[in-house]
Amino acid sequence: MSKNNDELFKNVISHAKEYGFVFQSSEIYDGLSAVYDYGQNGAELKNNIKTYWWKAMVQLHENIVGIDSAIFMHPRIWKASGHVDGFNDPMIDNKDSKKRYRADQLLEDRINKYERDRKTDKAVKLQLEMDKALKAEDLGRLRDLIIEHEIACPVSGTRNWTDVRQFNLMFSTQFGAMSEDSEEVYLRPETAQGIFVNFLNVQKTGRMKIPFGIAQIGKAFRNEVIARQFIMRMREFEQMEMQFFVRPGTEMEWYNYWKEARLKWHLALGTSAEKYRYHDHAKLAHYANAAVDIEFEFPFGFKEVEGIHSRTDFDLSQHQQFSGKKMQYFDPEINQNYIPYVIETSIGLDRMFLLTLMNAYEEQDLSEGDTQDSRVVLKLHPCLAPVKAAILPLTKKDGLPEKAREIMDRLKLDHPIVYEEKDSIGKRYRRQDAIGTPFCITVDHQSLEDNTITIRHRDSMKQERVAINQLDRIIGDLVSWKNLLK
Ligand code: GAP
Repeated sequence: MSKNNDELFKNVISHAKEYGFVFQSSEIYDGLSAVYDYGQNGAELKNNIKTYWWKAMVQLHENIVGIDSAIFMHPRIWKASGHVDGFNDPMIDNKDSKKRYRADQLLEDRINKYERDRKTDKAVKLQLEMDKALKAEDLGRLRDLIIEHEIACPVSGTRNWTDVRQFNLMFSTQFGAMSEDSEEVYLRPETAQGIFVNFLNVQKTGRMKIPFGIAQIGKAFRNEVIARQFIMRMREFEQMEMQFFVRPGTEMEWYNYWKEARLKWHLALGTSAEKYRYHDHAKLAHYANAAVDIEFEFPFGFKEVEGIHSRTDFDLSQHQQFSGKKMQYFDPEINQNYIPYVIETSIGLDRMFLLTLMNAYEEQDLSEGDTQDSRVVLKLHPCLAPVKAAILPLTKKDGLPEKAREIMDRLKLDHPIVYEEKDSIGKRYRRQDAIGTPFCITVDHQSLEDNTITIRHRDSMKQERVAINQLDRIIGDLVSWKNLLK
């Protein structure tokens, strides 16, 4: 990460804390690593991102429905899905610092360093060797590569490494109050399996015809070996996933459809297309016959935000085998029973949240002549902004607060609105800019005479005088989901 990018990222993290978006979990106890809480503005922003996804996926598709399955699931589900045996990361410890690392990430950091130093041949060679070792699950070879490339522990500076071991990422806990009959269950590492095991329930009760989708938003848990980059890699996070069930043989057509549709969803927020790219998976998971990541350019490089995976009939077939229950669909159009193929779209809500903050954050120098001025503004899409408008009486007297409260009481029935009367109007504008409020509505003495107020627009900082009875329409138009979903 260059110094500028590093600084920008640090500034966004402090801004997120200072303005009630994201807090370290259990902060007064010195925090819990890679676990975060969302504050008053963060919770609103997160809910708005969820709403945008849910409307685009469920509300606008007649053949997609949403569910909310439990986090605890029967432990055999994770055996069937392959997570008990295969959901591992290769880890290595440094014997001097006692710090633990992901072996593949140490190697990836070295590849990035070779690229930065323009040692492209070395970077390409190491990438190929690492991919080969990962594919063959050759842990000895991964360790050899770390030694051969003289990778040292960033903390101790030594190369005194343990062997590489596989580390299962699932959290487990005991289910049931009595120790003798309690059972080990897992906290789900993805929401997708809750959809697969409900495939027939939804298909039958909703009389769904293939192709159709089931969507879900919910928590997932992974005991990441190392967690870094703020809310990029967390141990408790949220996913927004959709499994689209299709007739075998048509999966590539739907894979391409969803690949395009999902990027369009991202771009509708107004982000520059250059900040996004597709990254096709060279090494496919055992269940996939095609997979692509949608990557966003964060200050620390292009990173995955969403995955689109063609998962074949792997999951449903496994559940059929492990549960002994048929997972078939009767297709009346071709008069045949089959296990459907699945295209999955899976986006991390927290990564989308970070992307949205990064994209919106702007430090502006507003100095003119000898007058120094600056502001930090979050240029959030109005649909995503935590607060839609702030009502600001110019002074705390002369009946202005009462008039402002009248407006507030009407608007708050439709929108999240705040009322602020403390500090100068300029300071109040800055506070609203910093949380991304698209409108500031100022109530002044003229308002008492002619029922007009001034609206100050966040991005242009321009002000206009409008009649109070126009406010519902003006705010309603700007924050309407139609702007994003058309
Ligand atoms: N059901 C497929 C699945 O879970 P994945 O690529 O492992 O696929 C999907 O995860 C998305 O979930 C990722 O693109 C990422 O946005 C998010 N994600 C995965 N692990 C995460 C973590 N530890 N912290 C935050 N987000 C994570």
